[in-house]
Amino acid sequence: PEDIRVYEFAEKLKRPMSDIIKVLFDLGMMMTKNDFLGADEIEILSEEFGVEVTIVDPKDEFNYVQETDEEDPNAVERPPIITIMGHVDHGKTSLLDSIRKAKVTEGEAGGITQHIGAYTIEQKGKAITFIDTPGHAAFSSMRQRGTDITDIVIIVVAADDGVKPQTLEVIKIAKDSGVPIIVALNKMDKETANPDLVKGQMAEHGISPVDWGGDVEFVPVSAKTGMGIDDLLENILLTAEVLELKANPDAPAKAAVVESSLEKGRGPVATVIVQNGTLKVGNNVVCGSSYGRVKALVNENGKQIKEVGPSHTAVVVGLNEVPAAGEIMMAMNSDKEAKEYAHKRYEYERNKELSKSTKSTLEDMTSMI
Ligand code: GTP
Ligand code: MG
Repeated sequence: PEDIRVYEFAEKLKRPMSDIIKVLFDLGMMMTKNDFLGADEIEILSEEFGVEVTIVDPKDEFNYVQETDEEDPNAVERPPIITIMGHVDHGKTSLLDSIRKAKVTEGEAGGITQHIGAYTIEQKGKAITFIDTPGHAAFSSMRQRGTDITDIVIIVVAADDGVKPQTLEVIKIAKDSGVPIIVALNKMDKETANPDLVKGQMAEHGISPVDWGGDVEFVPVSAKTGMGIDDLLENILLTAEVLELKANPDAPAKAAVVESSLEKGRGPVATVIVQNGTLKVGNNVVCGSSYGRVKALVNENGKQIKEVGPSHTAVVVGLNEVPAAGEIMMAMNSDKEAKEYAHKRYEYERNKELSKSTKSTLEDMTSMI
């Protein structure tokens, strides 16, 4: 076969065919299982399902699809990426501030002036990258875009307040994402802290503490006093070790946008976490429908850096537009390629908008298969 058919693609992805057909349908493309997919469709689908697709023979463009993530022989160990989630005011940001303060040297401490959504620390010579989730909106949009980049989720529960509606929400999100969970029992400095009560509540919702015979570590901490922070970090490293996380620093850069904004003087900026490869100043990048040449990379301490490797974060300056959080940034071979790809995404978004009005016939469609 010259090309790949819809059902073959579904098989490769190990996804139900109806999912593939629905995504195509949402884009205004009426396809059935035996239809051939073109390069554009493959590109869009792989983004939608969060997989990397390599077209092996560039002359015979569409004939072979392969997931590349784990199998790269040049992949080496990379730091874990941790997302902090939990109910409002249970101390997510305070915990991150506390970890950061405990782990940066005196010289750097003065540089912590603004809130940052993602940063990397070192514990016993091992790097760990954290992502804060303000009100967890950023996280859910990331999930929707299929760019869930988290290796481990930390659920923060205030020990004096217990399980709350958003705690339940994040339990569900964490479970759905299938990544390991660690619970941080925060505010243990408070007299009213009742860790056993919280453990009971969590266990009721399927998060069972290891010391109760379950499989989830509960680490008592206080963001206020710094108590338990080292324990928490040790637990993260132990969990990460088992995951054997890898990336290839020599691959073309692929990074996920955690935060973005339009800044006076600097223009559109995006805080990214590199998933694979190394992002360098001078790289031509595409990020959704925005593109540009990386003019500057700024690390979490406000220092300009030349490049940023796997699992590390940086603020990227040089895009023509502000990309959405959750968007994937990719290094391209040329300025022209970046522009073309950005344009394709623009068209894709536009088709998606246009196809919304025809959604009602989806049922008829899928019953045809
Ligand atoms: P959202 O981002 O709004 O969801 O809140 P958050 O989870 O980031 O909570 P944040 O860190 O902003 O903390 C909320 C309040 O709890 C602040 O007033 C903190 O000072 C307080 N707090 C956080 N951690 C602790 C702790 O360990 N002990 C005590 N006593 N207070 C804490
Ligand atoms: Mg916060």
